[in-house]
Amino acid sequence: MDKETVGIIGTGWVGTSVAISTLHAGIAQRLWLHDLRAEVAEGEAMDLAHGAAFYPACEVAAVPLAQMREADVVVVAAGRNGRPGESRLDLLRDNARMATEVGQMLRGFGGVVVMVSNPVDVLTRVLQAASGLPPERVIGTGTLLDTARLRQIVGRQLRVAPGSLHIQVLGEHGDSSVPVWSGARLGGRPLRALAQWDAAFEPALAQQMRRAAYEVIQRKGATNHAIGLVTTRVLRALLLDERSILAVSRVQTGACGLQGVALSLPSLIGAGGALEVLEPEMDELERAALAASAAVLERAHASLS
Ligand code: LAC
Repeated sequence: MDKETVGIIGTGWVGTSVAISTLHAGIAQRLWLHDLRAEVAEGEAMDLAHGAAFYPACEVAAVPLAQMREADVVVVAAGRNGRPGESRLDLLRDNARMATEVGQMLRGFGGVVVMVSNPVDVLTRVLQAASGLPPERVIGTGTLLDTARLRQIVGRQLRVAPGSLHIQVLGEHGDSSVPVWSGARLGGRPLRALAQWDAAFEPALAQQMRRAAYEVIQRKGATNHAIGLVTTRVLRALLLDERSILAVSRVQTGACGLQGVALSLPSLIGAGGALEVLEPEMDELERAALAASAAVLERAHASLS
């Protein structure tokens, strides 16, 4: 496999977790880091390189921002993260300028951008507009993390491995996210058909999923490990041209009647980015919740003008 170059902009909690997770995955030949605090990026590159004996071969280096244009995939993990009590949308004013500036720097870029910074859906839209890149090549990690959290929560409830559960969370990576319980499956059987399941469990489990980041931030000041692993999952699909279906964010161009807003829907991920969006089967309540989530994100984006 002709391994490729991954660039990470922002070497704080999340960027460094993406870096170590990507190194262990062995999917990149070169890992480039950049941070406004140049010495921090250099220190992180040195520290990661010192562990070279314990991950598949990969050259790690701190590079100038403009060199990111030569990478195959650029991960954007820059900007400030949430403080206890803040919603992700509260970060919008502070992080939107960063997304615009990175987008302008990446105009004409030939690879794929993976936005991780929050609020990830609106920043995905801002960067896509500023860069002029096609929507399929500007992906946000979106509700792939919420999906992972809900699978872990339901797996614990049912005492089954999270990887054996098929549950999708769609819409905003945030307080209006939409768990699609109607499509949830365990071992090919509908979750709601299982004797040990009761739909009455669902609101509390969804709330646990939506509160997860706040509970972590309250205790340790940020989240980073799970989002690092989730981002590496997206990188693997891109770099290996997997053509996997993942719930990631991108500017929508018609699926579910959505046009222009960036939010998560099931997307076919391969070397060219989020190549196709697959319309999910949802019940009436879920469709209404997705429309409401889109409206929250439209209002947030409108607040920037
Ligand atoms: C979280 C951040 C990445 O949900 O939004 O942990």
